Amino acid sequence: ARRHQVDESLSSFRLSRDQLRSVKARMRAGLEAGLKSNSHSPVKMLPSYVFRTPDGTECGKYLALDLGGTNFRVLLVKIRSGLRRSVRLYNKLYPIPLEIMQGTGEELFDHIVHCISDFLDYVGMKKARLPLGFTFSFPCLQAGTLVSWTKGFKATDCEGNDVVDMLREAIKRRNEFDVDIVAIVNDTVGTMMSCAYEDPQCEIGLIAGTGSNVCYMEELRNIEKMQRMCINTEWGGLGEDGCLDDIITEYDNAVDRESINHGRQRFEKLTSGLYLGEVVRQVLLDLTRRGLLFKGRVTEALKTPGIFETKYLSQIESDRLALLQVRSILQHLGLDSTCDDSIIVKEVCGAVSRRAAQLCGAGMAAVVDKIRENRGLDQLNITVGVDGTLYKLHPHFSTVLQETVVALAPQCYVTYLLSEEGSGRGAALITAVARRDQVEID
Ligand code: BG6
Ligand code: GLC
Repeated sequence: ARRHQVDESLSSFRLSRDQLRSVKARMRAGLEAGLKSNSHSPVKMLPSYVFRTPDGTECGKYLALDLGGTNFRVLLVKIRSGLRRSVRLYNKLYPIPLEIMQGTGEELFDHIVHCISDFLDYVGMKKARLPLGFTFSFPCLQAGTLVSWTKGFKATDCEGNDVVDMLREAIKRRNEFDVDIVAIVNDTVGTMMSCAYEDPQCEIGLIAGTGSNVCYMEELRNIEKMQRMCINTEWGGLGEDGCLDDIITEYDNAVDRESINHGRQRFEKLTSGLYLGEVVRQVLLDLTRRGLLFKGRVTEALKTPGIFETKYLSQIESDRLALLQVRSILQHLGLDSTCDDSIIVKEVCGAVSRRAAQLCGAGMAAVVDKIRENRGLDQLNITVGVDGTLYKLHPHFSTVLQETVVALAPQCYVTYLLSEEGSGRGAALITAVARRDQVEID
C-alpha cells in the first residue's frame, strides 16, 4: 500500500509523449509571441545585438566579469588571432554572500568593484585601462537595463536601471582603477560565442544550471547586411500566463509560493538547479506527513529550504552509488533514513530531474524546429553550446534532454558542445568583436 501511494504521488511528474509535444508547441507559441512584442510576453525574446559568431580574427586583452551563476568570477582573457589563434585566461572566483545578493544595488556593485580591484592587484594590471565584457545572467534590454532579477538575486534599486551605469558609478566611487565597459552579455550568448569559436555550426547557447535559458541566431529578414541576430529567449518565463498549469503539480506551486519571485519564471522553476532540490523537498515533506517516509517524522532538516542542492541530487541519482551511500548523503543532510526510505528518495529525485530534462528537451525541440523552418530546410544540422552545473554534473539530465529532442524534432541533427571555460571567454570574444581596433598582443 505504501508503494502504491508513493507511485501515485510521483505519477504527477510523468509526462507522456503527447504532453511533451504539447509543451513544445507552447514553447513555440511563446517564442513567436515574444518576437512580436517583448514587453508583455512571458518569453521575452530580448535582442542581443550580436550579429555573428566569432571567426578567429578576434584579438586583444580583455577583462571579463561573470555574474549570475553559481560563482561570480573575474577573468583576464587574452585572445590571439591568425595561425596561432588561441584564447588564454586567468580567473578568480569570488563568492557573493546572500545578504549582498539581496541587499541594495549599491552594495552589490560596490562588492563587485571590490572584487575587480582585488583581481587587478592579483594579475598586476591596476594601471592598464582594459576593455571589459560583462556577462550578466539576467534579462537585460540593450544598453543594460535590467528587466527583472531572477534566481536568487533581489538587490534593490536595480530593476529598470542600467546596470552598466551602476557598475561605472561604483568604479568611480572606489576611484582606484579605470576600465572601458564595452559589452554586456547574457550567459547563454557568452556560452554560444565561446563554443562557436571552436565550432562554427554553433548557433544556440543553452544554460541548464542555477537558472534555465536559451539563445539562438534568429533571421533578420529585411536588413541586407546583417542576416542574423542572437536572441536571448529568457524561456524560463514560459508559463507566467498560466499556460503550463495543467502540468504544474501542487509541489511546484509550493516551491513557487516560497520563492522570492512568486508567479514568475514558472518554466525555470520546473527545470533548473535552484529549484529542483526544492521540488524534491516538497515531495519528501508530503510523503513524510502522510507517514510514508522517515517514520513520519518531519524534522527541522526537512523543513530547511535549499538543503537539496543540485550536487546532492546528482550524487543521489548516480547509478554507481550503493543505497548505503545514498543513506550517508541523507545522513549528512541531517535526514535519518532506512534502506526503504533511501529507495524512495532516489525515486523522487529521479522523477523530478527526468521531468526537468524532458521539459528542457521539449523547449529545445521547439527552438531547433523554428530555426529549421526559418531557413526553409528539411533537415537542420546544428550545434548547441551548453553550460551549467545541472547539465554537467547530473548523471542522466543530458541524456534525457537529448533523447527528448531526437523524439520531438526528428528532422534536426543536434550536436551538444560543452563550454569549457564558462561564458567569460564568450564575453571577451564579444568585446573583441565590438572593439576590432584593439592592438594584437604579442
Ligand atoms: C558558467 C558560466 O560556467 O555557467 C556562467 O560561465 C553561467 O556564465 C553558469 O551562468 C551557469 O551554470 P550554474 O550552474 O553555475 O548556474
Ligand atoms: C535566468 C536568467 C537568464 C539566465 C539564466 C541562466 O533564467 O533570467 O538571463 O540566462 O537564468 O543563468
